Amino acid sequence: MDKLQITGGRPLEGEVRISGAKNATLPILAAALLADAPVTIANVPHLQDVTTMIELLGRMGVAVTVDERMQIEVDPTGGIEPFAPYDLVKTMRASILVLGPLLARFGKADVSLPGGCAIGARPVNIHVAGLQAMGADIRIENGYIKARAARLRGARLVLETVTVTGTENLMMAATLADGETVLENAAREPEVVDLANFLIAMGAVIHGAGTDRIVIQGVKSLHGCNYRVLPDRIETGTFLVAGAITAGHVRATHTCPAHLDAVLLKLQAAGATVAQGEDWVEVDMRGRRPVAIDVRTAPYPAFPTDMQAQFAALDCVADGVGTIIETVFENRFMHMLEMRRMGAEIRLEGNTAIIKGVARLTAAPVMATDLRASASLVLAGLVAEGRTEIERIYHIDRGYETIEEKLSQLGAQIRRVPN
Ligand code: EPU
Repeated sequence: MDKLQITGGRPLEGEVRISGAKNATLPILAAALLADAPVTIANVPHLQDVTTMIELLGRMGVAVTVDERMQIEVDPTGGIEPFAPYDLVKTMRASILVLGPLLARFGKADVSLPGGCAIGARPVNIHVAGLQAMGADIRIENGYIKARAARLRGARLVLETVTVTGTENLMMAATLADGETVLENAAREPEVVDLANFLIAMGAVIHGAGTDRIVIQGVKSLHGCNYRVLPDRIETGTFLVAGAITAGHVRATHTCPAHLDAVLLKLQAAGATVAQGEDWVEVDMRGRRPVAIDVRTAPYPAFPTDMQAQFAALDCVADGVGTIIETVFENRFMHMLEMRRMGAEIRLEGNTAIIKGVARLTAAPVMATDLRASASLVLAGLVAEGRTEIERIYHIDRGYETIEEKLSQLGAQIRRVPN
């Protein structure tokens, strides 16, 4: 298994090109199951999670072709077995996204129930309850969700918690249901909007995506389309923090700063000068040490849980004391324990981390525990004195495309080595 070696201390300078969004690509690939003709998807990031989703579609009998520019054609017109096996679902929880499309299009879906996760319990009760309210017969048997419905019926669904993939699953299912579905308390994340735009390009009738009330009129069938995935706001934010934490100057291109309002405000509060255009954004620290900031995670448009760990790394070396409150997942502080091994001063009280910035972190061997936690350890390594080694970096490969190449281009001393 590979590891990353990072020698800290260099300010990052330059431009980085942002990839397509992982968390939009995954539901869009699943949504392709709804069409009765091939779809073509561009700006797909080359990531392990995307490969897993392609493998899942392939196992069901969907023909998927990928060209050298990661443009993907998904042809769901052959004989398809609506089955998502445990061996794939256990490696990627987002596999649950095939449940709604399979049931809506084929009247049947057997999808392994995802187990626990490093960052929290992450149940899928809201996905299941929503489909039941739309008339599905659902049983849990032998670790599988077994769902049946001749045709789903439109319904008014009030989601108990704001859930991103829950909103996506129910929105996809509703596109082929009989009648109107209303999703109340829907997630407003840009990735939900991107999925809605993809479904609309296939002929779905959807209004209100991006608000907390999405209304879907069911149609009989969906057709093929060409679609381009939106840029990854979390990758963008991660590179901007890399610029800020190293007291550098980084510009992210091919991105969408409008999706990063909460993150950019925190970067400004940390002392960065932020400039932006329609598809680029940059931070400039002018060589200054960041100032500690307070962060509280919540669903979009508030500060994203997927950026919490990166800002924790920033607070570790900032001037002052910063507080990080995680409200979305109950166990998303594993990176804090690794950062302590690098000399960070962090006190944990339930879902709150109180971080007193230190003048310098020192390199240590550390372990990645989940995707965003690993990104935060890379950031800590960029400013630590000495050579940090990060193990279990398969986590980072799930969500960051060639992170070591992109960081090297910005001047970081980072390399991937076999263990
Ligand atoms: N929840 C329930 N019941 C459900 C569904 C969710 O109680 O049926 C709870 C969860 O346990 C959690 C909260 O609702 O406490 C919000 O979870 P959500 O369902 O929104 O998370 P998700 O859809 O499983 C997506 C992203 C995550 C991101 C979260 C929050 C994808 C594929 N994943 O997960 O991304 O952290 O939304 O924004 O879109 C990542 O990319 O590293 C990542 C973990």
